Amino acid sequence: MKTVYTIFFSPTHTSQIIADVIAESLEAENEIQIDLTHGIPENKEKINGGWAVIAFPVYGGRIAETAVERFKQIRANGTKAIICVVYGNRDYDDALVELQDLATAQGFIPVTAGAFIGEHSYSRPGRGIAENRPDKNDIDIAFSFGEKSAKKMTELQDIPPVLLIKGQRPYKEKGPKTPQAPITNEALCTQCGHCIDLCPTYAISLGDALVTDANTCIKCCACVKECPNEARIFETPYTDLLHSKCNERREPELFYAQ
Ligand SMILES: Cc1cc2nc3c(=O)[nH]c(=O)nc-3n(C[C@H](O)[C@H](O)[C@H](O)COP(=O)(O)O)c2cc1C
Repeated sequence: MKTVYTIFFSPTHTSQIIADVIAESLEAENEIQIDLTHGIPENKEKINGGWAVIAFPVYGGRIAETAVERFKQIRANGTKAIICVVYGNRDYDDALVELQDLATAQGFIPVTAGAFIGEHSYSRPGRGIAENRPDKNDIDIAFSFGEKSAKKMTELQDIPPVLLIKGQRPYKEKGPKTPQAPITNEALCTQCGHCIDLCPTYAISLGDALVTDANTCIKCCACVKECPNEARIFETPYTDLLHSKCNERREPELFYAQ
């Protein structure tokens, strides 16, 4: 029985969409989803056999740190993998080579790799950054990438240990931590608690009002994008900057073991 493990961390769902489309193209008889967005699902730390699709977002040219921490608790034993990063149309810098190294260290064998584009966390209505991506074109590319990856995983006998992927080692240095978090428009907030459930790092709590711990917040903007009352606000100069400077459409980049 062909089992496909779909592993992702995806606060605003773009990485999840890419992972799901690729997994669908693999025609698994058994699909096991390992969603790391809110932690590590129970009994999912060990993976045996099968194929894996792994997709994580790019934060600051690297893989989102929370994804790395959680993924490090998963072990495989030679499972062939399709590795993907999803970024907001600026750049993915060294995130894909970082994922290649990380996946290998965790016992996966990366066979193909892709960098896809998703709507930027800081995209706002009227100041869009890769708005509504992945779109139909991205989905079609992801699906056919999955089909070609399946062929590679089936046919390649000796998979070279290192794929030729765009990116540098040592990886781009992480910028300094700048604690900041969305604020709440009290006039619009109904204290429904949806944002508390959505937050991947459990940074939001409810006392007399909503409180967000800026040291725990990863600025993923899930709460901003999904608040039913538009009561969560995260303003950053990056929204205007990226909206004006990173508006040239980038396309997915795909890499295959030869
Ligand atoms: C803190 C932070 C840093 C980010 N850094 C980058 C970046 O370096 N390059 C880029 O193109 N997009 C960057 N993004 C945008 C995300 O990579 C993009 O929105 C991605 O689609 C989010 O994935 P998700 O929908 O699976 O959560 C960043 C987003 C956040 C929140």
